[in-house]
Amino acid sequence: MRLPGRYDGVARPIVTYGSDPVLHRPCTPVTVFDRDLRRLVLDMFASMEAADGVGLAANQIGVDARIFVIDCPDAAGEDVVGYVVNPTLTLLEPADGEPAEEVTEEGCLSVPGPYAELARTFRARVDGVDVHGDPVRIEATGMAARCLQHEVDHLDGIVYVDRLPEEERDRLLAEAAGPAGDLPA
Ligand code: NI
Repeated sequence: MRLPGRYDGVARPIVTYGSDPVLHRPCTPVTVFDRDLRRLVLDMFASMEAADGVGLAANQIGVDARIFVIDCPDAAGEDVVGYVVNPTLTLLEPADGEPAEEVTEEGCLSVPGPYAELARTFRARVDGVDVHGDPVRIEATGMAARCLQHEVDHLDGIVYVDRLPEEERDRLLAEAAGPAGDLPA
């Protein structure tokens, strides 16, 4: 899954909640596997790195395409690094001794600042393809599994705060917006 020179791309600005409809509707599946796609994936890694994130979906840099990148530790502390084009998510049963789900603080580059507790399935898998259209799979636990669920949500037009009660969502968005009430550009 590791893309050689994965941080050779160019960081692009992060789209914040409410600032662009691309963040709030399902993304279009990728059908063309060319140099532009490879460049986009590299730019996504660079954008995630520049923003100090653990995952990033294409629509978070304003691109309507079903792709995410991840660089996030799993429950054992091992970094899960990779990307998936056209991912489908499967929530998995826990292995022996694992919880079925975990409630932990979650945040998002598109809601900069606040974090909120959210229940997510402890073990999850994503199936999809790489930049050549060949099959890839990422299975993960803990924070990395949370990240897989969070990123596929993004590609379905769902930001994690959309999963919270309305009052809490409004409070988090106001917190992210800052005292002036304007979301950062
Ligand atoms: Ni996010």
